[in-house]
Amino acid sequence: MEKKSIGVFDSGLGGLTAVKQLLKVLPNENIVYFGDTGRVPYGNRSNNTIKKYALQDAKFLLSHNVKLVIAACGTVSSVAGDLHSSIGVPYTGVVNPTVYTAIRTTKNNRIGVIGTSATIASHSYKTRIKEENPNIKVFEQDCPLFVPLVENGFIDKNDPIVRLTVERYLNILKENDIDTLILGCTHYPILKDAIGDVMGNGVTLIDSGMETAYYTKKILKRENLLAEDNQQGQCQFFVSDTPDNFEKVAEIFLGRNMEHSATQINIEKY
Ligand code: DGL
Repeated sequence: MEKKSIGVFDSGLGGLTAVKQLLKVLPNENIVYFGDTGRVPYGNRSNNTIKKYALQDAKFLLSHNVKLVIAACGTVSSVAGDLHSSIGVPYTGVVNPTVYTAIRTTKNNRIGVIGTSATIASHSYKTRIKEENPNIKVFEQDCPLFVPLVENGFIDKNDPIVRLTVERYLNILKENDIDTLILGCTHYPILKDAIGDVMGNGVTLIDSGMETAYYTKKILKRENLLAEDNQQGQCQFFVSDTPDNFEKVAEIFLGRNMEHSATQINIEKY
């Protein structure tokens, strides 16, 4: 029987933070990744547009006969919560797995959340945290320039543009004495070194992509969908714009040769 894949999508490179961890925790799984690089960023668009894009992205993955879909995107997970009802295979976004870990991590009950403007406006993380534990104080901050930085390859913490941008958004959050910071957009872990430097050692960073990968393993186990462990999984990458820049940044982030690894598709067909 053909081995079915896990489908992962994001507006661009961010979902690779989930893929990086999936490769470690589920090495036997095949992965089909779609990065909507032709329409990134999603985070400053209307909810209706984000929902429309998310459905097209999921349909593209379903055309590859995937057994599970991961919206490895904080923005989609925050504003397109009903996506699972149109998919027909197990589905997860990133908000729930990230919130569970953040709640277990905080000692002083003060959690920060950073994300795109759409994510922060939805208060998705804050609402879920408060549902789980109303005593936790949540401090939110949108960081709209982080996604364009990552998509354009500005990821080195020593780059002054990276440093200044990170400081510009996070200095405000630092004043709130948080001990846990949710990186509520999957692009942000790619800037983890710069974010960690600015926040300091006393703040634990929660990587939404990574937490979602762990959660995916639980779902596959529960649904009896895990791949057999006798074969190394394969990855296929698809993008909606020219693959060059995606491959360049993905190569640095995933630490593997990505030359000619991504295929451009027309997402408007889905
Ligand atoms: N990685 C997406 C997220 O997690 C980025 C959204 C965007 O394209 O603005 O929110």
